[in-house]
Parts: sequence; structure tokens; C-alpha cells
Amino acid sequence: MIETIAGWAVTPERRAEISRILYQAFGQKLAFLLRRGSEQEHIETLDAIMNYANGLVFAENGETTGVGLTKARGQSTYRPEAVMRRSIGWLRARILSTFIDQSINSDDVIRVDQLAVREDRRGHGIGTTILERIFDDARRLGLSRVALDVVDSNPRARRLYESLGFREIHTRRIPGARRYGFREVIDMEKRLD
Ligand SMILES: CC(C)(COP(=O)(O)OP(=O)(O)OC[C@H]1O[C@@H](n2cnc3c(N)ncnc32)[C@H](O)[C@@H]1OP(=O)(O)O)[C@@H](O)C(=O)NCCC(=O)NCCS
Repeated sequence: MIETIAGWAVTPERRAEISRILYQAFGQKLAFLLRRGSEQEHIETLDAIMNYANGLVFAENGETTGVGLTKARGQSTYRPEAVMRRSIGWLRARILSTFIDQSINSDDVIRVDQLAVREDRRGHGIGTTILERIFDDARRLGLSRVALDVVDSNPRARRLYESLGFREIHTRRIPGARRYGFREVIDMEKRLD
């Protein structure tokens, strides 16, 4: 059985599965956030700092196999800074709130902040399905644009976004990002009809 579940409705068990998928997908990029520790500890840290309330979760036969986190104006894909501070300390919490989770300053756009499919289920249309559901939900809310970004070391994801109608807006070179596996971030946008 296939189901899509709104983020606000996920159970603690499902939260842990989502955090594991995000860790598999973005562990290297998120390394600066995570103190030394085991994979399990890192997954628990993600669970403590991420806000899944606005996300969309994809499940097959009860198992979580994909997730897309979104934010519109006034929303965040992280928990409040004061909450994050307890698990990652004030400096990392500050960096995340200020630089990484930049707020949306427009009323007509929704941003997909993280999209990830469990490693063994990639290439089966799950990412496409999640994005199309996000487009439908955004249209229902009267939004006219969907934004996201992709790093230059991920040409597959970029091709997927282009095939769904996203176009490049601009490219940002990120100093020091090489050690996290990329050099540039490409901002993309799709207009909803
Ligand atoms: C990018 C990602 C979310 C795509 O999800 P997905 O369910 O694998 O995507 P789909 O099955 O809908 O694939 C759509 C297209 O992308 C291609 N594709 C993208 N990433 C792929 C992957 N890792 N493995 C296989 N195919 C992939 C497919 O070939 C497919 O093209 P086609 O329809 O012409 O065959 C997923 O691969 C993933 O979690 N990657 C790691 C995390 C990541 O990079 N997230 C995006 C950050 S911007």
C-alpha cells in the first residue's frame, strides 16, 4: 500500500525513519552540524532539530521511503533556535537559523528545503510523486511559484527538477563548501499554472 502523509501527522517512529533517510541523503552536507558521535547519535540529533510539520512523507507498506520538507512565509524546516540550542549548542543553532534556514519573504512561493528518497528505493518515481503532490498542495493554497536549490555535485537531482519544469535563477559559489562535497548552489524555480 502506498500513502502520502502530512508532516504534522507523523508519529515518533516515523520521525526516526525520516531522520534516517535525511541522514543517508545529506549526512556529508550536514556534517558541520553534528558533533562527533555514532550514526545513531547523528540521527537522533537530526530528529531533535528538524521540524517535519510542513513536510510530506511517502510510505510503502507502512515503511517511510521518501520525504519532502517545505516552507512558505513564516515557516521553517528547523525547530525554533532555542530548542535547537539544547542539542547542537548556541553557535550551530545561530548559524542554522541565520544562514541556512533563510526565511521566505514572499507570499506567493513555497520552498522545497529537503527532498530525499531512501537509498534502496531511488529511481522508482517517488521523488517525482512527492514533488507533484507539493505542486498540487501549493496550487490549492493559491501559491504561484515553487523554489528549491541543488548543489553542483548532484546533476541527477538537477535533471529531475528540470524535467519537472524548474529553471535556474542563479548560481551561488559557497566558499569552503568543497569539504562538504560541493562548490556551488544553483537556485531554481518553477511557476505553477
Ligand atoms: C534526488 C532524489 C530525491 C530523486 O528521487 P527519486 O525517487 O530517486 O526520483 P525519481 O525516481 O522520481 O526519478 C526521477 C528521475 O531522476 C533520476 N534519478 C535521480 N536521482 C536518482 C538516483 N539516485 N537513482 C536513480 N535515478 C535517479 C531517474 O533516472 C529519473 O529519471 P527518468 O524518469 O528519466 O528515469 C533521490 O534520488 C535522492 O534522495 N537522492 C539523494 C538526496 C538528494 O540528492 N536530494 C536532492 C537534494 S537537492
